[in-house]
Amino acid sequence: MRRKLVAGNWKMHGLRAQLGEVEAIAAAAAANPGVDATLCVPFTLISAAVGVAGALPIGAQDVHEADQGAHTGCISAPMLVEAGATLTIVGHSERRADQHETSHDAWAKAAAARRHGLQVILCCGETEAERDAGRAERIVQSQIEKSLPDGASPEWLTLAYEPRWAIGTGRTPTLDEIASIHAIARAKLRMMVGDAALGIRILYGGSVIGTNAAAILAVDNVDGALVGGASLTAEKFVPIIEAATSVSR
Ligand code: PGA
Repeated sequence: MRRKLVAGNWKMHGLRAQLGEVEAIAAAAAANPGVDATLCVPFTLISAAVGVAGALPIGAQDVHEADQGAHTGCISAPMLVEAGATLTIVGHSERRADQHETSHDAWAKAAAARRHGLQVILCCGETEAERDAGRAERIVQSQIEKSLPDGASPEWLTLAYEPRWAIGTGRTPTLDEIASIHAIARAKLRMMVGDAALGIRILYGGSVIGTNAAAILAVDNVDGALVGGASLTAEKFVPIIEAATSVSR
């Protein structure tokens, strides 16, 4: 049985003034012990967030593949660990688009995170043009094939399916479309890592909010949500954690 995971991605939002939100979200997570929750905050907020988050794991949104070196502006897994992060997102579509990251980059970043004991949320997802061309399934399969780190296992790896056109737009695929891609992702994982695939959580991400969360989280093979905009405040994020609890009963 895969426990639901509700992961917040604060993207480039969050100053110390927002630590009260972290605290309130952590309290709500503790009140919902049947599901897992986490917040991935900007690098500069990790240490302070850890200080107020109690048992709520705090993560990063990216990591460099090398442990150290001449890479201006980048951050390594040992640095994240020292700051108190226990996980990181890799391969987010905004990084693929803005920083031109490839699936191979995501693979190398996931491997670096793993080497240092960080959990990994590995993102995949098609663009709108790819979906319109009927290529969504093949794109997701190919991204998983190229980015799944060696030795992937449920203990440290979570996959997130995020159609790029659904991120921050208020548009979501139909529940059938979500079910179809998640089934394909599960089958691909199974081909690559065998029975371990049955334990690997696959999150859906893209315009998840309090009012659509329960329906999405009840879809077969949807083991949680990766949430951007609606994770920034406890008021918006806590209903999603509660929805995960309600569908887990
Ligand atoms: P959104 O972002 O919930 O604001 O659509 C999701 C994500 O990018 O992880």
